[in-house]
Amino acid sequence: MNLYKYVSDAINNKLGLVANLEVPKNRDFGDFSTNAAMVGAKATGKNPRELANEILPKLQELDFVENVSVAGPGFINIKIKDNFILNNTIIPEHIATQKSLMLDLDYGSYNIGKALHIGHLRPIVVGDTFNRIAKFVGHKTKSYNHVGDWGRPMGLIIAWILEYGMPKDAEEFNKIYPASTARANEDEKWLNHAREITSELQRGNPEYTKIYNEFIPMSLAQMNSIVQRMNVLPFDMIMGEKGVSEYIPNAKAILENKKLLEQSDGALVVNIRNEADNAPMPPLIFQTNTGANSYAAADVAAIYYRNKNDNPDKIVYFTDSRQTLHFQQLFRAVKMANITTADLIHVGFGTITGMDGKPFKTRDGNTASLSDILDMVEAAVRERVAESNKSLDDTTINQIALAAVKFNDLIHDIKSDYVFAPKAITSFEGRTGPYILYTAVRLNSVLKRADTTITKPKTYELSSDERNILIQIMDFERMILSACENHAPDLLANYTYDLCQLANNFYHNCPILRDDVAPELRAGRLYIAKLAFDTLAIAIDLMGLQIPNEM
Ligand code: ARG
Repeated sequence: MNLYKYVSDAINNKLGLVANLEVPKNRDFGDFSTNAAMVGAKATGKNPRELANEILPKLQELDFVENVSVAGPGFINIKIKDNFILNNTIIPEHIATQKSLMLDLDYGSYNIGKALHIGHLRPIVVGDTFNRIAKFVGHKTKSYNHVGDWGRPMGLIIAWILEYGMPKDAEEFNKIYPASTARANEDEKWLNHAREITSELQRGNPEYTKIYNEFIPMSLAQMNSIVQRMNVLPFDMIMGEKGVSEYIPNAKAILENKKLLEQSDGALVVNIRNEADNAPMPPLIFQTNTGANSYAAADVAAIYYRNKNDNPDKIVYFTDSRQTLHFQQLFRAVKMANITTADLIHVGFGTITGMDGKPFKTRDGNTASLSDILDMVEAAVRERVAESNKSLDDTTINQIALAAVKFNDLIHDIKSDYVFAPKAITSFEGRTGPYILYTAVRLNSVLKRADTTITKPKTYELSSDERNILIQIMDFERMILSACENHAPDLLANYTYDLCQLANNFYHNCPILRDDVAPELRAGRLYIAKLAFDTLAIAIDLMGLQIPNEM
């Protein structure tokens, strides 16, 4: 049950008004607090405190109310009945939304030729978790990996291969793009040569196409292996700039029909400025002055394709916030041309920085690749495990390291920058992935050792630790619907951390299997431990983490 919604609706119905329900930080005086008396007082001109006292008996009649009291200028605290809580807490196995939507999700966003780096962490982790959340609440999703596989980097790579031959493996391949770019920066002839190759490739030159077709699988395989290591859902569509280029003529025709394409210094642009703009809003460049289709053109074509194929209600993009302007321009142009009626959303991330506040680099000053990051964190986990004289197998170490990286990413506010500290995120205490897994392992171990069938007790008096944890479980539904609606997986991470804290308080204060615990008490606590574990397991799965057997 969504307790918050139930209580809020019941109060509003009973009193015939629309009040705000709050969850107070300090729950000693009540599980919820309402401003109903203030709302009523405003409408009738009465004194809020007096009105609150008049309202109390009415609220007392509601089925879930244990007691009500007035606080401050007229707030009403409400304490929920133990039995009501116990009888209505269920594991949020599946939560149906009012309306199931079709969502196209665009994340991952690799570029062929560059190894996946730390900048890809957030789009992958947040995109994947959002995908899982959306499915969980009943939406249909299609995940797109809009690979950068058709622009100038391809020309730079092919130019290099023409001169030095095909690389023998992915590692060698990764060196080509940086080397060729460095040369292009010094040597304009080389740059023009690469440009020429790019346009020729796009026109179907067979020699270049052959080379292209050889290195693409090598690069994709390398990316896929990292994606697998990250335990994210496989992409439904790997359809990059090349795949959508086929639809550029369709997109262009629509823009032309609507008279939206304009010549500007030899380029084709869409002017998207409107009168309300008080900040600069440059035009969207569709075709450059050398006749090449732009990054934006590929995105217009992609929307055209997705709209035709999926008829999405929403398209959500996950990239870093440096692309904010690009998406503003894109969305305006597409809306002006009426290419889709879908809601278009860009979720922009902050940057992952080092201690110096600059984008995170490895010790030798290089941009950290994603596999460097995972290796680094895995080493930190091994160190910590050794320090505490434990011995854990490789699978467990991997699971802990992945949880450290992903949870740390999810718990930070999506839009803000955050500092990446490989050692700190592996701590078994605090707002870390290992802490979350450790809590789950601990609860699970109690459940395994209990070795009895666990059922709901008929009556049971809840301690405050037990009430708090059950109320938190009943809040899962509200949280997950909000995380989905607001494209905010960080809500899930924060919720999970709070749940773990409550679970650990419960674990410490309410012994379960100890010999001196009476059987009825043990049965009740086991039931609560199971609800907590099951809810935590769902949350962990939605973040793409796995619970180790032991820790
Ligand atoms: N490959 C691009 C980059 O790394 C990101 C692609 C994001 N998705 C999109 N449809 N533009 O900058």
